[in-house]
Amino acid sequence: MSVPANINDIPYDAPLSIPRASRSFILTQNRKGADRTHITLPPVDLRNKWILISGSNNGIGREAAIQFAAWGANLVLAARKPPPTETSPEQVVDECLAAARKAGHEDVSVEWWEVDYTKLSSVEELAQRWLDTGRALDVLCNNAGIGSSPGGGSVWKTEDGFEIIHQVNLLAHVLLTLRLLPSLAKAAEPRVVCTTSCFHFLGTFDLRNTNGELGKTGSEGVNYYQNNKLWFQVWLTELQRRLLLSKEYQHITVNGVHPGYVNSGIWNLNTVGGWFTRIKTWVVKMMAYYFGINEQQGSLAILHGATGLKSGPDPELQGVGEKGGLGGGRYFSRTTELEAMPHARDPDCRQRVWRKVNDELKLEDKGLLNVLGLKYEERSKL
Ligand SMILES: NC(=O)c1ccc[n+]([C@@H]2O[C@H](COP(=O)([O-])OP(=O)(O)OC[C@H]3O[C@@H](n4cnc5c(N)ncnc54)[C@H](OP(=O)(O)O)[C@@H]3O)[C@@H](O)[C@H]2O)c1
Repeated sequence: MSVPANINDIPYDAPLSIPRASRSFILTQNRKGADRTHITLPPVDLRNKWILISGSNNGIGREAAIQFAAWGANLVLAARKPPPTETSPEQVVDECLAAARKAGHEDVSVEWWEVDYTKLSSVEELAQRWLDTGRALDVLCNNAGIGSSPGGGSVWKTEDGFEIIHQVNLLAHVLLTLRLLPSLAKAAEPRVVCTTSCFHFLGTFDLRNTNGELGKTGSEGVNYYQNNKLWFQVWLTELQRRLLLSKEYQHITVNGVHPGYVNSGIWNLNTVGGWFTRIKTWVVKMMAYYFGINEQQGSLAILHGATGLKSGPDPELQGVGEKGGLGGGRYFSRTTELEAMPHARDPDCRQRVWRKVNDELKLEDKGLLNVLGLKYEERSKL
């Protein structure tokens, strides 16, 4: 892997040095994401572990939380206060506690901590609340996400000034992860599981368009969804490379997971259009209903990312874990490792994403890159 001499200064609009991925690679990898095989996972003992999972009042996050609790984990469900029509996080707390008790775990702690990823101050509060506990964090599941923009095909910005899908699906996760690294570092074999997507294969890498500067939203903002999933997968790969270079963080394992094509709320498109948009939404939901897997099956990608052997640390590189652990910076489609988009393996692309989120979140100014650094150093184990 050659590293350009000027890797820290390459303009965002400079042509990429990697060849364009072939259409057949993109379509094949993306199609694998629709695999419907029924999967079961072996039970795991998570007693005395602490897991923080976002987007856990609904969908695959909710199912993952229930299973984590049944395996004995203590949980923080990071979720919004939803409208009364949606499942309340309190209900999911009860479901988790019931699952834990049923499995014989009487003293499991499950709490809902309110957070709204459209507000970075709320993400900061969530992080601080965790840091104030002084606890080690065994698993962070970056799972919250939106599938479309409330602006439909128009750019919709948050109060922080970012395009909403960019903020919820990428920036909030970046901020939370970096804030919580010290707590993760306290755990014996910490993991970060990022719910990316097979749609990352359809993303456009162009970092000049993170906040809709160039438009190209796609229908209901779908292009932004795809782009942000691509940037997320690329970012987490660079994060893993940098963690490995740090003595205090090298035992942390970060992976991206695609849950499958799941019949979940992600397909409830935020529509602002007329009858045509409503029909389109109905068709999308019907497709998910008939062809998607259920949320429990979708949750297995998260559970596997958090507990699987292959998705765990590489003992040789990280000094923890079992033989057979592959280490992080990988992409799992459900529970199978697949090659991600080539950008994730390219130092220039990774460094561009790393710099871009720093430009946007001012991570260096906040002291969040003190250990991991901003500039690219060629020493690399990944
Ligand atoms: N379903 C699929 O086929 C599929 C495929 C690939 C990847 N994924 C990814 O899987 C993850 C989970 O999605 P899902 O399928 O389980 O859909 P979902 O049921 O819609 O779950 C999304 C979760 O994210 C939460 N969320 C949305 N906006 C938020 C915000 N501003 N602040 C905090 N939480 C917020 C939602 O909370 P509310 O209930 O309050 O909205 C919900 O709990 C997402 O990252 C999605 O992109 C899904």
